Amino acid sequence: MKNNLLRQVSRASATAIRSPTCSTTPIATRAFSNVQSLKRDSSQDDSDKHDELSTAGKPGAFQHEGQFSRTDNTIRVEYPEEANLPSSKPVQGRGGFHFKRTLASFSLENRVGVVTGGARGLGLVMSQALVVSGADVAIVDLNKDEAARQADVLMENFRSENPGADQVPKVTAHYADVSSPDSVNKALEEIISDHGKIDNLVTSAGFTENFDAISYPHDRMQKLWGVNVNGTYLFAIGVAKHLMERKAPGSLVFIGSMSGAIVNVPQPQAPYNAAKAAVRHLAASLAVEWAHAGIRVNCISPGYMLTALTKKILDDNPELANKWTSLIPQGKMGRPEDLMGAVTFLCSDASGYVTGADIRVDGGYTVT
Ligand SMILES: NC(=O)c1ccc[n+]([C@@H]2O[C@H](COP(=O)([O-])OP(=O)(O)OC[C@H]3O[C@@H](n4cnc5c(N)ncnc54)[C@H](O)[C@@H]3O)[C@@H](O)[C@H]2O)c1
Repeated sequence: MKNNLLRQVSRASATAIRSPTCSTTPIATRAFSNVQSLKRDSSQDDSDKHDELSTAGKPGAFQHEGQFSRTDNTIRVEYPEEANLPSSKPVQGRGGFHFKRTLASFSLENRVGVVTGGARGLGLVMSQALVVSGADVAIVDLNKDEAARQADVLMENFRSENPGADQVPKVTAHYADVSSPDSVNKALEEIISDHGKIDNLVTSAGFTENFDAISYPHDRMQKLWGVNVNGTYLFAIGVAKHLMERKAPGSLVFIGSMSGAIVNVPQPQAPYNAAKAAVRHLAASLAVEWAHAGIRVNCISPGYMLTALTKKILDDNPELANKWTSLIPQGKMGRPEDLMGAVTFLCSDASGYVTGADIRVDGGYTVT
């Protein structure tokens, strides 16, 4: 009996030493948490599985590692030659004559707006938004012939959508390479001589290309920053100087991109992303610098919009359509006309107390 009792005490103390609460074995193999080590066998398997997801896991051990947030260096898209891009069509049925009530402060009547890169794509549709809202518009582009053709189409469109209108907005076309100070100044002189003044500026001239950072041709990178950043800056200071000389208020709208706030995947485009971040912060900086003169400066950051260029990128890389739309909460790419409201609002008196802002028109991309 005594022996039996001793045997039981000895067995109980051996069990206590091997029990999870006292064991030293799991503690030795776990790097971060003693608490995890106190769990029973079944839950230990779980925690091991989840460890793969953390910095405790071996690199590459988890099959989905980084799959949705990596750039892919095999994607390369060079900006196409002008002749390879189709010309844009004006938007139909978005304006014209209507009796729907809206704020008078949205009207751009008696204003003159300049739109750089207005011969095509987003710039053309934003030019149309200004025309529909009653402004005279100067379209500035490298491709002056296309700008001139589109200027006629916009006026014709306005005439047909507003039968009996006593005044049709005046739309003119001007050549400029926005990255060249001389070319910009010449275009501004021409516009002021044709229209008498400038009240609004929309800077849409810009482009993107995809190369991995190490292979990015240096001259292409300089050109990209020259057009996207210097071009925005040069037109902005030219128009601001004119407004200050006239002692007139004005509103400038820079076209940035959601790429100035996030890093797109999977196509690599570091210089473009940096350029668009510069555009956004330029808007904020100039808004502060010129607030005393009644000049407002804001930025519109579009997400993926379906234009000739994005269509070409999708034609070259069909798998991108699914990747892109899967990252957009609204699940769709935008159309150029989705910018019409934002640009009209920012140019108009309806946004009188809005300056230095960035309006994202991206289907919610940047908030997730
Ligand atoms: N399309 C998109 O999905 C998207 C998304 C976010 C931002 N953006 C930005 O919107 C702007 C317009 O893009 P888009 O898709 O309409 O492009 P687009 O190529 O269709 O149109 C750009 C226009 O700018 C002109 N241009 C180019 N370089 C110029 C220069 N040096 N001087 C004067 N004009 C010049 C072109 O001739 C063209 O008419 C760009 O700044 C682009 O970065 C586009």
